[in-house]
Amino acid sequence: MSAYPVPDASGFIKLDAMENPFDLPAPLKAQLAQRLTDVLLNRYPVPSYRAVKDALAAKLGVPEGCPVMLGNGSDELIHLVLQACAKPGAVALAPLPGFVMYEMSARLNGVKFVGVPLAANFSLNLPAMLMAIAEHKPAVIFIAYPNNPTGNLWSDSDIEQIVRAAPGLVVIDEAYHPFAQQSWMNRLAQFDKVLVMRTLSKLGLAGIRLGYMAGSARWIEQFEKVRPPYNVNVLTEAAALFMLEHLDVLDAQAAQLRSERTRLFDALKQMKGVMPHPSAANFILTRVPDAAGWMAGLKARGILIKNVSGMHPLLSGCLRLTVGTPQENDRLIAALTELAHT
Ligand SMILES: Cc1ncc(COP(=O)(O)O)c(C=O)c1O
Repeated sequence: MSAYPVPDASGFIKLDAMENPFDLPAPLKAQLAQRLTDVLLNRYPVPSYRAVKDALAAKLGVPEGCPVMLGNGSDELIHLVLQACAKPGAVALAPLPGFVMYEMSARLNGVKFVGVPLAANFSLNLPAMLMAIAEHKPAVIFIAYPNNPTGNLWSDSDIEQIVRAAPGLVVIDEAYHPFAQQSWMNRLAQFDKVLVMRTLSKLGLAGIRLGYMAGSARWIEQFEKVRPPYNVNVLTEAAALFMLEHLDVLDAQAAQLRSERTRLFDALKQMKGVMPHPSAANFILTRVPDAAGWMAGLKARGILIKNVSGMHPLLSGCLRLTVGTPQENDRLIAALTELAHT
């Protein structure tokens, strides 16, 4: 196993990590700075995190009566879920290719990881999922909705069949919810074993590291037992509270990214040898004639993207492009068009 790789992005147009590329408006930043100035850095956080949990629930559609748990990014929540499930012989299961942290965190917590390959068109291979669930009886199944790195959503009926077949928990990871605008959050009451996990990262706050997870009280109580009491720091808490008061700004940015995603997708479709996959997230997975060569070509033109072609056999020849600002996307489209003509 190697450490999660994070390349040096200084000086590049950074389209490798699904961040929101927009800064906050200057007046809002000044107000935020004032809010942060008032935070008492000498005090520990209050570990109930009541105010920020209430604001998340109210603004982001957590159903009434569903408790919320916070993490230092959803990366930490994934880790805590697996830590809590790590009985000897426990199995975690997820479709592959998928988000690498499920497997990494499982292995780090001594949980066996079972990956179930997607179909060639990147849809869920439902019979294979159901067979693997019956064989391995996973303590937890991770379903990224939409999926990273393929960008697509799954059919509701496929997820429902997986949930019904699951002997343990099913975590629906909605990290890209602002771009997909479809959610299992309102179905939590229907399925006691489902947890919905989200993050503020992709909405525009990757730097503050705040993930949240909602589900039935009897499960959240168990996960709270493994959460370090002060895992979310006071600056993150204050910044999140402030930004939830100004959610309209982040929502408008997400809307612009959704329309830029369409523009980028349409441009990719016109390029010779380029096969983009439809995306409900803020990135597009695309097959190109020479993934390593094109990645290097983009780097030479000052653009950093992610070559995912080595991650899984189904991804051979694939690059993952984060949707940037209109100007960044213009640069990306121009660079890719040049590469397609060489
Ligand atoms: C599907 C998925 N879940 C979770 C995360 C992690 O998000 P966070 O920044 O909250 O740790 C990512 C990040 O790329 C992701 O793609």
